[in-house]
Amino acid sequence: MDAMKKPLLLLFFSLVFPFSLTSSVRLTLREGSSLSVDKPGDTLVSKDGAFAAGFYPVGENAYCFAIWFSKPSCSIHNCTVVWMANRDHPVNGRSSKLSLRKNGDLVLIDADRTVVWATSTGSSSGSSVKLLQLLDTGNLVLRGTQNVVLWQSFDSPTDTLLPLQNFTRITPLVSSRSKNNFSSGYYRLYFDNDNLLRLLFDGPKITSVYWPDPWLNSWDAKRTSYNDSRVAMLDRYGNFTSSDDLKFLTSDYGAKVQRRLTVDYDGNVRVYSRSEGQEWSVSWQAKSDPCTIHGTCGPNSMCTYHPGEGRSCICALGYEREDLSDWTKGCKAKFNSFCDRKVETEFVELPHADFYGYDKGFFQNYTLEMCKKLCLDLCNCLGFQYKHTNCYPKLLLLNGQYSPGVDGGIHFRLPKSNLSYKLPRIEYAALQCPANEVLLPRTYVKRKESLAIKILLLFVGAIAGTEAIVVLTVWRFLHGTRPEKGGAHTDGYHAGPTGFRQFTYDELKKATRNFSEEIGRGSGGIVYKAVLSDCRVAAVKRLNEANQGENEFLAEVSTIGNLNHMNLIDMWGYCAEGKHRLLIYEFMEHGSLAENLSSPTELHWSKRFEIALGSARGLAYLHEECLEWVLHCDVKPQNILLDSTYQPKVADFGLSKILKRKGLKNSSFSRIRGTRGYMAPEWVYNMPITSKVDVYSYGIVLLELVTGRSPTGGGLANIGGGDENESKRLTSWVRERKRTEVPTRTWIKEIVDPRLTGEYDIRMVEVLVALALQCVEEDRDARPTMSQAVEMLLRYGDEDKGEMIAA
Ligand SMILES: *[C@@H]1O[C@H](CO)[C@@H](O)[C@H](O)[C@H]1NC(C)=O
Ligand SMILES: *[C@@H]1O[C@H](CO)[C@@H](O)[C@H](O)[C@H]1NC(C)=O
Ligand SMILES: *[C@@H]1O[C@H](CO)[C@@H](O)[C@H](O)[C@H]1NC(C)=O
Ligand SMILES: *[C@@H]1O[C@H](CO)[C@@H](O)[C@H](O)[C@H]1NC(C)=O
Ligand SMILES: *[C@@H]1O[C@H](CO)[C@@H](O)[C@H](O)[C@H]1NC(C)=O
Ligand SMILES: *[C@@H]1O[C@H](CO)[C@@H](O)[C@H](O)[C@H]1NC(C)=O
Ligand SMILES: *[C@@H]1O[C@H](CO)[C@@H](O)[C@H](O)[C@H]1NC(C)=O
Repeated sequence: MDAMKKPLLLLFFSLVFPFSLTSSVRLTLREGSSLSVDKPGDTLVSKDGAFAAGFYPVGENAYCFAIWFSKPSCSIHNCTVVWMANRDHPVNGRSSKLSLRKNGDLVLIDADRTVVWATSTGSSSGSSVKLLQLLDTGNLVLRGTQNVVLWQSFDSPTDTLLPLQNFTRITPLVSSRSKNNFSSGYYRLYFDNDNLLRLLFDGPKITSVYWPDPWLNSWDAKRTSYNDSRVAMLDRYGNFTSSDDLKFLTSDYGAKVQRRLTVDYDGNVRVYSRSEGQEWSVSWQAKSDPCTIHGTCGPNSMCTYHPGEGRSCICALGYEREDLSDWTKGCKAKFNSFCDRKVETEFVELPHADFYGYDKGFFQNYTLEMCKKLCLDLCNCLGFQYKHTNCYPKLLLLNGQYSPGVDGGIHFRLPKSNLSYKLPRIEYAALQCPANEVLLPRTYVKRKESLAIKILLLFVGAIAGTEAIVVLTVWRFLHGTRPEKGGAHTDGYHAGPTGFRQFTYDELKKATRNFSEEIGRGSGGIVYKAVLSDCRVAAVKRLNEANQGENEFLAEVSTIGNLNHMNLIDMWGYCAEGKHRLLIYEFMEHGSLAENLSSPTELHWSKRFEIALGSARGLAYLHEECLEWVLHCDVKPQNILLDSTYQPKVADFGLSKILKRKGLKNSSFSRIRGTRGYMAPEWVYNMPITSKVDVYSYGIVLLELVTGRSPTGGGLANIGGGDENESKRLTSWVRERKRTEVPTRTWIKEIVDPRLTGEYDIRMVEVLVALALQCVEEDRDARPTMSQAVEMLLRYGDEDKGEMIAA
């Protein structure tokens, strides 16, 4: 068959029989032939069928050439991979191939014809290459004349050592990046220069050895550094021996099973065994306490381990996550360096916590007071470990551990505060979720086509095109896509909800680990933290009352699910099963404004202004730009949530509709809603309810942002005044201060939150206070609308930022 007809024929067949796969399993690959990514099942198998080599999917349209266990048979997504040629450079899912060239080179060619990986067997050896073969041991071997081995996969392992594979000083094992990401990770098993087999964390910034325990010398670790042959091997029966005297037998020593030794992405080395019909089980591991593995939790964070839940990380007191998708980046301080500015500091002790290494010396026979003094005298001291009269001042907080087994505690050095520092919640699921997946563009090289093929392709293209148009039209028809608003982006709108869907109760039960982690209580229900099956972190609100039919509930939920604004919390879905009613929202990393206002690390002035503006925008959208009027009716700091960049998002809107508090037709609410301290007088005097009730509550929130004082208690004791209406107390206190015949600076200084330590923009405070007082007018007609409020803030926000004053 000539070169032109063959593709034509193939094309014809794939049109007529689109689902027939041309699967070809081979025992050898001869020179001049290749394995193609386009043909699923185009693989090389070992004689006994235990191993297969071929293209393995590692991401969307991304493939690596790999070897995997093929007995028992596995579906291509769940095979156990033991080797990869191009783990760091996946190839395209179209047109890529592995070729054994006539000159003897084994090459992996991407869709754009670049060579991604190659054995340099072509030029170097005079011996001509005969064939490529996968042995029963799992070794992929390239043989030349007289069966000499020109290249073998055993000489370039990735993260796995198979039985009988030599482990040498030039073949370290490197873990993969994560469970679903096969590219090179940070953990390395290798022979060190002193001939010892070690585990190293080799991260982007720091490297450290953690096995054998770094404080032991070789003989205490039962190793020897006097044998420089640096070889190790696991035999078929589970006997591992190394030239540094490390020896072990696996727990199932002797059994005839499949085995592999793998440096896992979590930094542990494990030997796995599998007998027929079973799952892999661990028959040996290097580290029994997973928190002694370095690097998992980056700087300023601590590893914690729970036998049932697994391992997780938490930030040290006074620190917050650096990168939400990656714990290895650790946490960053929420306060300025003690070297930049002199601040009063305090020491807060966290028992059962330790950070290994990075001490500024070791001081014996010190009292706690002496140790504190020592740390205070060093501006870069971040705290100290104090144990049995020994003092270890810390200059860096690395290799942190937090577990009941840890002896002694760490004393963190933190800016002095009246409020207590709290340990954040532990999220066990967080470490198991992968970072983003690789996605390769779906493009591939076009061959030079003959005219006949071009015509055929045109024909196929026409059919496909028509199909696409039909599909699109039907889709539009079914989904009633509305035209987009012009210039929408600048106003903070974004595309309609994409992932809004129904969840099953079981799914949510699993995602919230049986509703175990409560993160808040709001009107109508309790909120739990959840990790969805696609690894998104969510907040699940479980509604108390289910006094509403399923259809009605769905109608309300989908209305709310359709509201989209960057200052409104995103609803991802709902669950309505039997008596259960749940709502699934995006999770806000920094919690509520209320939590932030009561935390010792200050919300900086610029953040506060952003929060004031953003929440006004969200409310304005609810009031004026929605197709239907949505009153919030419960605006308060607990319902303003902050994302990772402190952008505010209004939460819990529309709940009055879902909870079916009767008759939301402007005036006739049957029950008083809202929260003490934030309620407009209309509620009390039974007056018509309009959007101005939200404006009133917003005004109180502004006052709270500026003064740091809650209208419902706390810091208000020193204000005095009647106790009839709490919001009035805060309001009249601010009004009084303002009225006093003193220069602006004085009254502002009196009311502004002392936690701002004098760092604020005096003009903006004036603007915020003026707006707030206007919002809390008794007469609702004297209050601005939310969009007028936005305008006022924008006007002043754009002007010169005024002068910063520092007290
Ligand atoms: C792989 O998945 C298939 C179906 O999804 C399942 O039947 C098979 O047991 C799995 N194999 C392994 C090794 O997990
Ligand atoms: C392992 O090393 C030994 C000794 O150097 C050698 O004889 C053997 O062929 C090697 N095995 C493999 C699979 O390379
Ligand atoms: C394990 O292998 C080593 C080296 O081959 C050998 O000396 C030792 O006897 C073996 N141990 C067992 C229990 O078979
Ligand atoms: C060094 O280790 C190798 C492999 O375990 C062993 O064969 C050799 O005898 C050892 N050499 C010495 C001097 O102990
Ligand atoms: C610790 O200090 C006490 C009192 O200063 C002294 O008596 C004791 O010998 C010291 N111990 C050590 C181990 O230095
Ligand atoms: C802390 O408390 C002290 C006394 O209890 C008080 O004088 C001071 O103003 C408070 N500081 C802050 C920031 O609230
Ligand atoms: C794996 O992780 C690396 C490093 O974070 C990243 O560059 C790569 O895109 C990831 N690959 C996959 C398949 O997700």
